[in-house]
Amino acid sequence: MSQKNIVVVGAGVSGLTTALLLSRNPEYKVVVAAKHMPGDYDIEYASPWAGANYMPVSVRGTPAAEWDRNTWAPLENLARNRPEAGVHFQECEIHNRTKDVGSATAEWFAELLSPNPWFKDVVPNFRSVPKARLGAGIDSATSFTSVCINTAIYLPWLVSQCLKNGVEFKRAVFNHISEANTPKIHSSGKVDLIVNCTGLLASRLGGVEDKSVVPARGQIVLVRNEAGKMLDISGTDDGDDEACYVMSRAAGGGTILGGSYQKGNWESQVDPSLAVRIMKRAVELCPALTGGKGIEHLDIIRHGVGLRPVREGGARIEKQRINNVWVVHNYGHGGAGYQSSYGCAQAAIQLIDEALNPRARL
Ligand SMILES: Cc1cc2nc3c(=O)[nH]c(=O)nc-3n(C[C@H](O)[C@H](O)[C@H](O)COP(=O)(O)OP(=O)(O)OC[C@H]3O[C@@H](n4cnc5c(N)ncnc54)[C@H](O)[C@@H]3O)c2cc1C
Ligand SMILES: *[C@@H]1O[C@H](CO)[C@@H](O)[C@H](O)[C@H]1NC(C)=O
Ligand SMILES: *[C@@H]1O[C@H](CO)[C@@H](O)[C@H](O)[C@H]1NC(C)=O
Repeated sequence: MSQKNIVVVGAGVSGLTTALLLSRNPEYKVVVAAKHMPGDYDIEYASPWAGANYMPVSVRGTPAAEWDRNTWAPLENLARNRPEAGVHFQECEIHNRTKDVGSATAEWFAELLSPNPWFKDVVPNFRSVPKARLGAGIDSATSFTSVCINTAIYLPWLVSQCLKNGVEFKRAVFNHISEANTPKIHSSGKVDLIVNCTGLLASRLGGVEDKSVVPARGQIVLVRNEAGKMLDISGTDDGDDEACYVMSRAAGGGTILGGSYQKGNWESQVDPSLAVRIMKRAVELCPALTGGKGIEHLDIIRHGVGLRPVREGGARIEKQRINNVWVVHNYGHGGAGYQSSYGCAQAAIQLIDEALNPRARL
């Protein structure tokens, strides 16, 4: 078998996970080329800003639910066996208010808010929380064991695992996809396949621009306070595009307070009023953060803004022939890039194997 040269464009969780799985096949020589790399914090780079946890909102029976389902076991394995990856188990509670029925957040969370979601037999310990344990204003709740990923550890860990397997990393900014096919990128000079993991910027690149990819702006506050568990709620009283969730990252990563889901909003700067609302809602949802005291008892590490790369109709995992080169797309993961990362990368790799070794399937 001759070696195949692959360029993965993008070094977010999608590109890195795809590169890692590809690098396990000795037939593939992989280069990851990207404008942003782990360590960077930039509005064009979603991955560092994520919580990140496993809390599926994908709808039963869709490809997205399959990708999320296939991602649980690899993440559970990391939490159990690979402490250096920065992924840990955490109990997770989903609070439900009847008054949120029909709101944008409740629609987005529909599967998560169901008493019988598809993932109830995937995650451990799925159960409903007794009414007596619920705070004022909460009508019902479910809980399960999930994982929370410290992105500041996990993304560099993915890079390390790739490097160990011989993947090369290059800084590069592409104006057009054909630019990936040059000796500057792949030393061999000949690229057999390009994997497109460009996230939100897929909407802005030259070539075939995908205008169905839009940002859903997420503002967060990272604090030193401990939450003890992950919490999420069906809605807020502050408008349809605001959200409320809390999660503590592995290995001293601090606690993420969220958030918002502002579709079509590209604003990179922190909105200070929104930050105050986020903190107020978080201490109400999770009094353990400040021992029941106010937001002045939160110890802030930093404020942040990230843009979820939302694609109408869901992530695009497809193969396409462009300028005589195979391109396999893996972008547009919205708010689910981590919890679908392995499932999506596996689906992309199936297409890559088909494109590069068509005979192997006969
Ligand atoms: C506040 C917030 C909270 C979130 N919480 C969660 C969560 O709890 N769980 C979860 O699963 N997901 C969560 N997400 C979603 C998750 O962060 C994204 O789905 C994921 O990071 C997308 O990863 P990506 O690799 O596709 O894109 P990105 O991380 O944006 O990476 C894109 C890469 O492509 C490169 N690139 C793009 N265009 C070019 C170009 N022209 N030339 C060269 N390189 C290029 C970039 O430089 C970058 O390396 C959250 C997101 C936000 C903002
Ligand atoms: C959440 O509330 C809605 C509306 O009352 C209800 O239909 C749904 O079953 C509830 N979910 C859970 C898990 O109880
Ligand atoms: C990724 O896909 C988008 C949308 O189709 C396209 O504009 C862009 O050129 C592609 N990038 C690469 C590197 O394939």
